[in-house]
Amino acid sequence: LETGCLSVVVLGASGDLAKKKTFPALFNLFRQGFLQSNEVHIFGYARTKMSDDDLRERIHGYLSHGKGDEEMESLTNFLQLIKYVSGSYDSEDGFRLLDKEISEHELVRKSHPGTSRRLFYLALPPSVYPSVCKMIRSYCMNQSDLSGWTRIVVEKPFGKDLASSEELSSQLAELFNEEQLYRIDHYLGKELVQNLLVLRFANRFFVPLWNRDNIDNVQIVFREDFGTEGRGGYFDEYGIIRDIIQNHLLQVFCLVAMEKPVSLKPEHIRDEKVKVLQSVMPIAPEEVVLGQYDGYRDDPTVPDGSSTPTFATVVLRIHNERWEGVPFILKAGKALNSRKAEVRVQFKDVPGDIFRSKKHGRNEFVIRLQPSEAMYMKLTVKKPGLQMSTILSELDLSYGQRYQDVKIPEAYERLILDTIRGDQQHFVRRDELRAAWEIFTPLLHKIDNGELPPISYKPGSRGPAEADELLARAGYVQTHGYIWIPPSL
Ligand code: BG6
Repeated sequence: LETGCLSVVVLGASGDLAKKKTFPALFNLFRQGFLQSNEVHIFGYARTKMSDDDLRERIHGYLSHGKGDEEMESLTNFLQLIKYVSGSYDSEDGFRLLDKEISEHELVRKSHPGTSRRLFYLALPPSVYPSVCKMIRSYCMNQSDLSGWTRIVVEKPFGKDLASSEELSSQLAELFNEEQLYRIDHYLGKELVQNLLVLRFANRFFVPLWNRDNIDNVQIVFREDFGTEGRGGYFDEYGIIRDIIQNHLLQVFCLVAMEKPVSLKPEHIRDEKVKVLQSVMPIAPEEVVLGQYDGYRDDPTVPDGSSTPTFATVVLRIHNERWEGVPFILKAGKALNSRKAEVRVQFKDVPGDIFRSKKHGRNEFVIRLQPSEAMYMKLTVKKPGLQMSTILSELDLSYGQRYQDVKIPEAYERLILDTIRGDQQHFVRRDELRAAWEIFTPLLHKIDNGELPPISYKPGSRGPAEADELLARAGYVQTHGYIWIPPSL
């Protein structure tokens, strides 16, 4: 790790993302020694007028910590690192003041040899990205004559379709080069998402099986058992495809479907992601089911006649040698009957099956991203006992059980650390973002034009029945009478 003065600037410091994700992640990094008191300073910036202590007070409750003396001390030390600067997002004054504060901190730390580093975390709505970035570029760049840096972290939504996203990208590209820009997709910070590359390319088991000859279909599923309460206004502008599928699920899709990268260099990995995205065929409207849960429009921040989908199942098809003919089913929904995210790889039937085991269900390899991180393989075995019959069972790697002493880091914690280390592997490159929008833009425009009205579904259900029918048409065979139960500790 580099050493030297590090200034982390959280813009939008009084907002939800900053309170719930950014500051807690910074605190966890601090606690674990990744941020050193003698190097780091954290600046909150927002429009609200308040004191350093007001900000500390606001975020305090979101920082989870034990009650022990050491824990309390580290909390106090962390809060002391935070300063607050208030200003608007498009005025010189605010950013000049911010620069002054950062520079003072850098001056004090001058005795530390090394670099001076400035990390700007935009916990802000994207509408202000261009103006904020202009201000940073004009007034807040790192001036160190040593090898310091300035980096910008941004988070979706990056536009609403291909054109608006490209416009935003061009605006940012005029100010910063790609090496300075970190586009967060927090799914890339999840433990089991990061494991996908290792699983696929470090295991001989999977190498020969991972293709159209053996795999019948793949599902990538996100389910939440709560609605859009409290953020209906934001959500209604975007809908489930922009909120979850075009980014989070598509990133997982890339890692499941891409070819082996030349090496683990971030650019090599991102090159392969772009390639597989470019091989996706146009989405067929008959392979899309949209839903909206009953009651969604009762939210006062949602317009009465809204036809924004809160559920979608979309089949993607890849035109390449490995995947021709294999449907990748991306499904996401709010207000469903459970909360989980998983990848489900379903294999083809065994040819010439002498056990008639087909009736039990197919081999599946399931990667449970959350909750209860796990991976399990559903396989047919002889039913233990005197008779020769078969049942479906599983090989199960449940993290809670296998890695009892490990606390799995939060996605944001890992990703912020990557931004400090300068590792862009788990961030979305501009051409990747573009390719992702290219896939979904025609469909989104149809939805926006009211050509594909959502089907209503009951909150707490599986979503519209039509989605299950689409799954069956795509070739997915549901297993009956088997459920995987995460082992209890
Ligand atoms: C966010 C979406 O990006 O991801 C939310 O805007 C969603 O709608 C959230 O709830 C889910 O993240 P996680 O990590 O809880 O699965």
